[in-house]
Amino acid sequence: MPSTSRVRPSRRLAWSAAAAVTSAGLAATGLLAFPGSAHAADTLGAAAAESGRYYGAAVAPHLLGEGDYAGTLNREFNSIVAENVMKWDATEPNRGQFNFSGGDQLVSHAQNNGMSVRGHTLVWHAQQPGWVQGLTGNNLRQAMLDHIDGVAGHYAGKIDSWDVVNEAFEWDGSRRQSNLQQQIGNGWIEDAFRAADAADPGATLCYNDYGTDGVNAKSDGIYRMVQDFLARGVPIDCVGFQSHLDSNSDLGSYRQNLQRFADLGVDVQITELDIGGSGSAQANAYRTVTEACVAVSRCTGITTWGITDKYSWRGQDTPLLFDGNYQKKQAYTAVLEALNSAP
Ligand code: G3I
Repeated sequence: MPSTSRVRPSRRLAWSAAAAVTSAGLAATGLLAFPGSAHAADTLGAAAAESGRYYGAAVAPHLLGEGDYAGTLNREFNSIVAENVMKWDATEPNRGQFNFSGGDQLVSHAQNNGMSVRGHTLVWHAQQPGWVQGLTGNNLRQAMLDHIDGVAGHYAGKIDSWDVVNEAFEWDGSRRQSNLQQQIGNGWIEDAFRAADAADPGATLCYNDYGTDGVNAKSDGIYRMVQDFLARGVPIDCVGFQSHLDSNSDLGSYRQNLQRFADLGVDVQITELDIGGSGSAQANAYRTVTEACVAVSRCTGITTWGITDKYSWRGQDTPLLFDGNYQKKQAYTAVLEALNSAP
């Protein structure tokens, strides 16, 4: 079915409405304390929710037993994404045998705490289980479709947005020469989106990538794909901008880039934000990114790639909003201010 004939719910409004009917959601959004009044919210999630957005973090379920980790997550964030446990290697270690233990734990945590869930990621050239890596031709295509059906089907109705396809473009804007591209051919990405749509018709379906932090050759290539998909009715709803950055990254066209995708007719999300650095330089870069999102009405939310520098995949860069002792950094204050300044 062409996407133009489907009516997808606005996930921003859907999430806000869902959150508003739970006491946890009311506490998280701050709506109970200040009904109808303008005020500065004092957590990331509450500040984002005031303009109908989410503020999320990538989470590892095995860390939820650490009091400060879970405490910071529950206090500050209202969305969760699995840093690793919903990837292909984790969810389908053997063909047709699914393992949802880690993902289910995260979904339960989110539901118990009034948070929405991003799914990451259905198809990626990395973190494929060994059995996938040797597959060829239609055998690989069928394995991909079955994987999407199994995982997105299992979580159907529980995921706000899925990263259906991750990192499929080269820097020059051409398709990445992965096993998926080489064995299945150019149609593999739209095949993946159609399968995800069939498995979970209510989820916002995203294409997600890095190095797309401005108008550049790579984001141009993705832009052309989205334009083509929309014209042909391939079900794509959203583009995720990972935004693994440093304090001195060039953010001169960051906002303009988000806006041009939004203008095509898809939501945009900042999906894996982390910014190496410290002090005011780091804070300023975080402020720029946050202000860009809140300036674009279809930028529906921001996720940082972790909670604390202690467990960041690039911990030596101290790229997150909470230091290794879970103390708020200068960047945290900049983000909170930027969220609170949303129109
Ligand atoms: O699960 C095993 C564990 O059993 C083993 O003891 C341990 C020993 O090293 O390795 C564990 O797996 C590691 C896994 O993280 C969990 O810690 C993998 O080796 C390691 O490769 C994996 O790294 C993850 C990486 O993606 C690759 O999947 C990072 O944590 C994760 O932050 C990173 O996230 C990616 C996004 O998915 C896509 N965009 C870029 C981003 C950063 O690279």
